[in-house]
Amino acid sequence: MTGAVYRCAKCGNIVELLHAGGGTMGCCGEPMSLLEEQTADSSLEKHVPTVERVEGGYLVKVGSVPHPMLENHYVEWIELSAGGRRCRSFLAPGQAPEAFFPGPEVQDAVAREYCNIHSLWKGVK
Ligand SMILES: [Fe+2]
Repeated sequence: MTGAVYRCAKCGNIVELLHAGGGTMGCCGEPMSLLEEQTADSSLEKHVPTVERVEGGYLVKVGSVPHPMLENHYVEWIELSAGGRRCRSFLAPGQAPEAFFPGPEVQDAVAREYCNIHSLWKGVK
């Protein structure tokens, strides 16, 4: 499936599938794990990204309570898919767990984020 994200359990490589060809994704001589897009938090820490329409674009935030942005636990990237485009903002520890994506208002805005500890999460507007 286009857009699927895979991780290598051995070396930690993470890749996104841009065109599905039907083969098996592999790394370090083994199949890679497909990361599930989680949509519901049951833990104290909140990961589901929220998508808010703001002037000139979309603001995506991670966590109803802001997600930690520590050296050993942080949101590595936030992605917005909208109107046939997919944009990604890469974050670093110490930054706010949010990203602004300029663009027109569309009906199909979907955000994903990747936490280095708790993996892949998805939220819709
Ligand atoms: Fe996390």
